Amino acid sequence: MTKYIGILTAGGDSPGLNAAIRGVGKAVVGHYGMHLVGFRDGFRGLMENRTAPLEGGQLSGILTLGGTILGTSRDKPHKMPVGGKIKDMTGVIVENYHAHGLDCLVCLGGGGTQKNALRLKEAGLNIITLPKTIDNDVAMTDITFGFDTALGIATEAVDRLHSTAHSHHRIIVVEIMGHRAGWLALGAGIAGGADVILIPEIPYDVDSVAAAIKRRSRGGKPFSIVAVAEGAISVQEQARQAALENKKVKKAKDADVEEPEIIYADRTIKLAQQLEALTGLEARITILGHLQRGGAPSAADRILSTRLGTAAADLIAEGRYGFMVAARGEATEAVPLEDVAGKVKTVPIDHPWVESARRVETNFGD
Ligand code: F6P
Repeated sequence: MTKYIGILTAGGDSPGLNAAIRGVGKAVVGHYGMHLVGFRDGFRGLMENRTAPLEGGQLSGILTLGGTILGTSRDKPHKMPVGGKIKDMTGVIVENYHAHGLDCLVCLGGGGTQKNALRLKEAGLNIITLPKTIDNDVAMTDITFGFDTALGIATEAVDRLHSTAHSHHRIIVVEIMGHRAGWLALGAGIAGGADVILIPEIPYDVDSVAAAIKRRSRGGKPFSIVAVAEGAISVQEQARQAALENKKVKKAKDADVEEPEIIYADRTIKLAQQLEALTGLEARITILGHLQRGGAPSAADRILSTRLGTAAADLIAEGRYGFMVAARGEATEAVPLEDVAGKVKTVPIDHPWVESARRVETNFGD
């Protein structure tokens, strides 16, 4: 019996998404002889029944393409903005899934998508997911596609920022994405030789950072690169947030959303101002933002996306549903969605990368 497969991309765009769509699609259609239809703009397109053909050559020429040819959104099936209201549209999505005669829906996304996918599994749909995000914060997989490409972009930025730092004897504070995890800032900080790396997992004391910068200056290096994760916070802010939690202030954001909490760039501006005041060195800021999600995926991400995508097709051919296809070494592993959803993979504070960075005298603000 020929199988009919749906595919969508949800959450933030990421390098490697099109490579993954290609991996799933070429294996499903070409290798296994199944049918494939795309849904536009994440779960919203599935709810609105907006499709994209994927069997007429659309999978050619996209391996190297950034973004997603299907479009994406952060909309969630159970809390979908419709007509100015937030509605549970799970029922409509289930109806559309069956109206298309789908045997499986493949969802490419980050942590929020894994949670939304589990909900659709619990609503009775056959679901397979792939772990996508530049943040590398999806649980139960060695790595997510998008991370390697963003790491390369951020590393090149740190490399380039050294020029103005040593020429003008300046502190350059470069803000790096990663949402609530520090993987991208940690990796780019190490690879780019940042003197200070600040990540959410290690709340920082600005006096410790300033002392490290002044030590460098006294040692004949009156310039420093500070790689700060957008989610990094000071110990003082951590205390304030804890106090708010204790007062049981209702969290404005829904823990299920793919939406990032609003990362205030002013934290980075404030940090730079504090360091300038404490060290006497000029400070300048660079916020890398969405540059880190742009352009062609790296070779490593193309390989990873292809591996995960074709492994998803294998699971579908075997009739095994309800899993995320995780990267495990050179292989893949089918991880039950229940074991992934709702979890965030943050940087262990004793991670080998952290220990190694400390050995080359990188300051973590602690
Ligand atoms: O999750 C990927 C990511 O790039 C985060 O690193 C960042 O905080 C967020 O998305 C930005 O979201 P948006 O693209 O909706 O501004």
